[in-house]
Amino acid sequence: MKSTGGSDEAKRNAGESAAEAVKDGMVVGLGTGSTAAHAIRAIGRAVDAGMDIRGVPTSFQSRQLARKEGIPLTDLDSVSEIDLAIDGTDQFAGGSLIKGGGAAHAREKVVDSAAKRFLVVADPSKEAERLDHPVPVEVLPPARTTVAADIRELGGEPTLREAERKDGPVVTDNGNLVLDCSFGEIHSPRELTRSLASIPGVVEHGLFVGMADEIHVGTDDGAEIR
Ligand code: 5RP
Repeated sequence: MKSTGGSDEAKRNAGESAAEAVKDGMVVGLGTGSTAAHAIRAIGRAVDAGMDIRGVPTSFQSRQLARKEGIPLTDLDSVSEIDLAIDGTDQFAGGSLIKGGGAAHAREKVVDSAAKRFLVVADPSKEAERLDHPVPVEVLPPARTTVAADIRELGGEPTLREAERKDGPVVTDNGNLVLDCSFGEIHSPRELTRSLASIPGVVEHGLFVGMADEIHVGTDDGAEIR
């Protein structure tokens, strides 16, 4: 799993801190990325130790890891509620997040918002005074040009996300494309959330405003809960 930002130790401490909130009998949303992966591994160890936990993956990647770790899986159609979700972030400022570095933000938003409690896991490199990271916007492939034009109207600069192999665009688990949209400093994440959501052809964007209940920030020595 690709690792970004801070040290792996900081990510591990964040993930393991959040995984301590997982209790016997819970249905847990399993986030995507290198920090959430540490939480998934810790949950796998809890399952090994006899805890009854079911996981709802937010991506193909988190499904594969959860399977490897022996976590029984379920989906949103099969459960009445999700007790807790643990997920990473690309940037946070106050309670607002920008997610989608792994192009999984559409499913992540569905699962994280359905959870009774949503815990974010991050290393200190993700913290900002004001959000300014490009906002990933998942678009239906035929709408990529019209959505890009609407984003420019909003003052953003969209870039189609290319695969690392440079052999074409990134295609999401849902078969869509991703525009990474730079807006500079985002002064009103809530307003931008509404504007992006109203563009025809936008499947989901990576602004998660007012959703997080706790942010577990890991360092090389431990974790702090915000
Ligand atoms: C995937 C995400 C990830 O949670 C985000 O990119 C953080 O990843 P990492 O913990 O590897 O830095 O939003 O869509």
